[in-house]
Amino acid sequence: MLKVGFIGWRGMVGSVLMQRMKQENDFNGFEPIFFSTSNVGGKGPDIGLEIPPLHDAYDIKLLSSFDIIVTCQGSNYTKKVYPELRKNGWKGYWIDSSSALRMEQDSIIVLDPVNREVIDKGLSSGIKTYVGGNCTVSLMLMALCGLFREDLIEWISSMTYQAASGAGAKNMIELVKQMIFVSEPCKEAIKDPAITAIELDRILTERLRSNQIPCENFGVPLAASLIPWIDVPVEEGQTREEWKGFVETNKILQTKEPIPVDGICVRVGSMRCHSQAFTIKLKKSVSLKEIEEIIKSGNEWIKFIPNERDATIKHLTPAAISGKLDIAIGRVRKMKMGESFVAAFTVGDQLLWGAAEPIKRILKIIINYLRK
Ligand code: HSE
Repeated sequence: MLKVGFIGWRGMVGSVLMQRMKQENDFNGFEPIFFSTSNVGGKGPDIGLEIPPLHDAYDIKLLSSFDIIVTCQGSNYTKKVYPELRKNGWKGYWIDSSSALRMEQDSIIVLDPVNREVIDKGLSSGIKTYVGGNCTVSLMLMALCGLFREDLIEWISSMTYQAASGAGAKNMIELVKQMIFVSEPCKEAIKDPAITAIELDRILTERLRSNQIPCENFGVPLAASLIPWIDVPVEEGQTREEWKGFVETNKILQTKEPIPVDGICVRVGSMRCHSQAFTIKLKKSVSLKEIEEIIKSGNEWIKFIPNERDATIKHLTPAAISGKLDIAIGRVRKMKMGESFVAAFTVGDQLLWGAAEPIKRILKIIINYLRK
């Protein structure tokens, strides 16, 4: 029986992965063993099966006996353990949700509804390292995969509206604390029927600028505001999040001619859905109807929202999509810049298709491959 080790299953992405695998009855046909970096001997997750106590996630000898290791533990863990395992000659499959190995030459970024061919080729050519992509990139590719498949895209500008979850669980909690903190004095003030919007704003802005606002993690208020900077600076004024758009898209698709992808990445106060507004330059002019059909045919999770007010405000929002596997895409229209310029807007759950789902699916793909 194949032995599969899970590390980082307790964290946010890991726990969504566990939940999804349990939901889909994926814990079968292999022996699942759970590890811990801090609670060796403790109890593993409830996966509906008897499992042994937690093993030490730094035990290289034990890890080396595994066929597959799945980690959602984060980059530091990967950077510490992965090179040691490979140095010791371990030939197993490493599945990773962190970015540490994404740009390594012998790794594949996985998003199987978009790059199944790349994955299959990787498996048959002996590649053993499979890494989940950046959430924004994965969600963009899921939304636009029809247009990519038809080789219609010359370049894309993606302006993002990224959820707190992308920054981590602590940040999600901090966002809620900020919401409570900034609205607290408004609760009383709003009872006065004569209160004006300007006065409420004054009260709220005072709270936003108070040095009491909880912002240990974001550094600044996000509630009732936004942060147009995600991750560290890289070259030419980009942030690392913006840099990933180009490099990861082209690595996922293994494009011969790189497709330019760029934009400004912005953190907004949604909890776990990343949204993105695209300007897409097509290689040729295609009718709007055809574009819509191509987008709809992208994959089975696409939820195409017609470019109408009611449908858009009801269905193309984080409030509507959070916790679902749907990849909502709408606002599709030709732009004033010319016939080959298309606008679109997408919303996707950052923890599902943006993180856990591609990992869950590559595990299944690898298990099926090894069983053949
Ligand atoms: N880096 C992303 C963000 C999430 O900060 O929203 C993970 O890919």
